Amino acid sequence: MATINDNYLKLKAGYLFPEIARRVSAFAEANPDANIIRLGIGDVTEPLPEACRIAMIQAVEEMGDRSTFKGYGPEQGYAWLREKIATHDFQARGCSVDASEIFISDGSKCDTGNILDIFGKDNTIAVTDPVYPVYVDTNVMAGHTGEVNDRGEYGGLVYLPITAENDFTAEIPSQKVDLIYLCFPNNPTGATATKAHLQAWVEYAKAHGSIIFFDAAYEAFITDPDLPHSIYEIEGARDCAIEFRSFSKNAGFTGTRCALTVVPKTLKAKAADGTDVELWKLWNRRQSTKFNGVSYIVQRGAEAVYSDAGQAQVRDLVNFYMDNAKIIRQQLTAAGIAVYGGVNAPYVWVKTPHGLSSWDFFDKLLHTCHVVGTPGSGFGAAGEGYFRISAFNSRDNVEAAMQRITDKFKA
Ligand code: MLT
Repeated sequence: MATINDNYLKLKAGYLFPEIARRVSAFAEANPDANIIRLGIGDVTEPLPEACRIAMIQAVEEMGDRSTFKGYGPEQGYAWLREKIATHDFQARGCSVDASEIFISDGSKCDTGNILDIFGKDNTIAVTDPVYPVYVDTNVMAGHTGEVNDRGEYGGLVYLPITAENDFTAEIPSQKVDLIYLCFPNNPTGATATKAHLQAWVEYAKAHGSIIFFDAAYEAFITDPDLPHSIYEIEGARDCAIEFRSFSKNAGFTGTRCALTVVPKTLKAKAADGTDVELWKLWNRRQSTKFNGVSYIVQRGAEAVYSDAGQAQVRDLVNFYMDNAKIIRQQLTAAGIAVYGGVNAPYVWVKTPHGLSSWDFFDKLLHTCHVVGTPGSGFGAAGEGYFRISAFNSRDNVEAAMQRITDKFKA
């Protein structure tokens, strides 16, 4: 009989968001009249920017004409999109990233998991705690961890707690780690990393031959002009970091699917025989073999983000969600609930009131306010006692949800 990848059996019950969806469906079934407001998964609600829609409609027309029809595109993405990204997102901020180092993909979730294909099995891996669960689960699936303990921690991983006690800073580990996942602005805490902090990480990585996986999916939400948007704003990062970015949250592409990964050509890691190997070549080989690129239509939509109209429309979208974040912060603070994040990120990280556990607060909010959030403990043991509220929703829903919560929890 065929055998399975036993590593899957090590995974905790379910991926966090399907587990939330399961509980919400059960509640909705039992309470069909409840008007449930979902501020759990960070999924956008507002329509695609007009500039993107127009570009995609035009691309559909091109696909309907033999003379402009496109078949397979380049696995790495079309050059015209990669060049726009290199110019606007990187070179304009002083980062030396060339278009050829950018790989277009269908999502940062996929890329942060797939990147493990090109790394060895024996690397020591560090993640923050709490953390975006995909980083952990994909390492479990790849057989890079031991079993899970009662706290939900996997053997073999190095957890770096980010909590109010250390000001949500991912402290540099005292031991040597080979692969480090950093996500700033942070999902789930909404915390940020200063240039000095990232510089310390880059120096650590260079000293130890480590690679940083830098997830910048939320960089568009940075409001503080002094904060870095890309790890390549830090000197030396080209020699130790891979960066992941996405059109999901800034341009509302969660259902449209387009993202990018930067693998600098200067980046190397060791082969088993001790030779240095360029990671760009391996990732290019991996993508050419296992991926056929993002559709032409979607890439044209993503390109339109960089037009003047697209830039203005994306800015409006980001501002809209950040105004939601401000409302969430203000209302909860006024109700005497401690909140973090939500200033440079679309997530507000809430200290659960009355010492409730994360899941108890989840159930209470669902059952008494009909509001869905995400339990902090679902992101890791150090997230216990916290709760994430996403700013991705309509203004009406955010205001109604905050009204219900403050009515219930006002001290
Ligand atoms: C989240 O809610 O953390 C995000 O939606 C996850 C994702 O972007 O995959």
